[in-house]
Amino acid sequence: MTDRLIIFDTTLRDGEQSPGASMTKDEKLRIARQLERLRVDVIEAGFAASSNGDFECVKAIAEVIKDSTVCSLSRANDRDIARAAEALQGAARGRIHTFIATSPLHMEKKLRMTPDEVFEQARLAVRFARNLRDDIEFSAEDGYRSDIDFLARVCEAVIKEGATTINIPDTVGYAIPELYGHFIKTLREKVPNSDQAIWSVHCHNDLGMAVANSLAGVKLGGARQVECTINGLGERAGNCSLEEVVMAVKTRRDHFGLDVGIDTSQIVPASRMVSHTTGFVVQPNKAVVGANAFAHASGIHQDGVLKARDTYEIMRAEDVGWSANKIVLGKLSGRTAFKQRLQELGVVLESEGEVMAAFAKFKDLADRKSEIFDEDILALVSDESVTAEKEQYGFISLAQRSETGETPHAEIVFTIDGREVRGVSDGNGPVDASLKAIESQVSSGAEMVLYSVNAISGNTESQGEVTVRLQNSGRIVNGVGADPDIVVASAKAYLSALNKLHSKADRVAAQG
Ligand code: KIV
Ligand code: ZN
Repeated sequence: MTDRLIIFDTTLRDGEQSPGASMTKDEKLRIARQLERLRVDVIEAGFAASSNGDFECVKAIAEVIKDSTVCSLSRANDRDIARAAEALQGAARGRIHTFIATSPLHMEKKLRMTPDEVFEQARLAVRFARNLRDDIEFSAEDGYRSDIDFLARVCEAVIKEGATTINIPDTVGYAIPELYGHFIKTLREKVPNSDQAIWSVHCHNDLGMAVANSLAGVKLGGARQVECTINGLGERAGNCSLEEVVMAVKTRRDHFGLDVGIDTSQIVPASRMVSHTTGFVVQPNKAVVGANAFAHASGIHQDGVLKARDTYEIMRAEDVGWSANKIVLGKLSGRTAFKQRLQELGVVLESEGEVMAAFAKFKDLADRKSEIFDEDILALVSDESVTAEKEQYGFISLAQRSETGETPHAEIVFTIDGREVRGVSDGNGPVDASLKAIESQVSSGAEMVLYSVNAISGNTESQGEVTVRLQNSGRIVNGVGADPDIVVASAKAYLSALNKLHSKADRVAAQG
């Protein structure tokens, strides 16, 4: 057993399974690079066999990431495993993560397999995978609701076949900390060769206990790998949140006695990048990365913190990367300063053309906004018109009129497959009029299920960041747009959501 806790990030795989959180290849690459800067040990880059798109993402990430292990999920069958191995070919360090469900409910109702069949399939899958790579993780899906003796037999067998990490997910977020910790401990005791693998926990947050359960799996159960996501992103109530688990282990090192390799100063930038990319806004009171996490509003607290910081603060805001919120560039900054700031923020734009497009947008923004923050730059480079991806819809300009007592009216110019179109509409408010003006030309048939506005850097001079969630024929997507004018930001967000709705995404769900 090691005294180091391995941080396995699955934002790009399990996190991406949240409805509407799907990301493009460029977005995934950008997040993977940020995860590498964060120094996560393992990046689960996707589920290569689920779609050609996912295969390409895993492959691209495997080719560029050097410091973290890159992992692909695969079901426990030869085709999936071979596809994962193929996608990982270019990886400096690659891991195949194969899984099969082991709970009575999942085996009987979902897989329609007997326990003996599942046992055999798990064993053969790991044998096959081990012939392709050395680093093999086996997950027993719905492991926590499995019969512990059966699960112990499966774990023993897959370790014999060469699995190097054994992961016991609480797939449906049903566990309670003491019970889960005890379950992992007892399971390890029942597996005779348990010392030949690293034990891992993977907890979902349906009862709000994913972090507590993961920590119990570590402290009581002896697990030495935690699977987690940035901002706790994930299906339903999400996964165990990386920032919370890491800061708990670091802040309470006296209790856990474990080291983590994470560069915590990269936590807030990672949180912002994931939130901006997926459109999943971080709640203000979220631990570590919420806007209020270090804000002391009450007089008593403020007074205490000014006298001695540790009266009310157990972590330092700057240690998790909050100092990023400073003025960095202005109207007079040149291209070199802009490029250098992009580099410091870890943004890699693929071509000089993309840098030029981003710089033009920066100049445009600097004309309208006196102070440019890191957040503004990150929002600007996430804009689809910068990352030269071929999108169906592109924003050009918007004019709108609203006055007390008058019906708001909007006129929008945008492109559809490169062709310029003009839409005109009235609406209940300026945003409503603008989105109806888009729909007058698009007739998407999509239903809006969420609209939210957030100030990127906290005051009225800030850019507004708008998230629009659309639903159509069972697909849910999020679009994000940023601009000092929130009506323009709304139109950009709407067009971004339409682009995602129209991109093809046929995939196999991991828990499907
Ligand atoms: O929650 C789960 O069981 C999973 C596995 C596929 C690892 O995500
Ligand atoms: Zn999961």
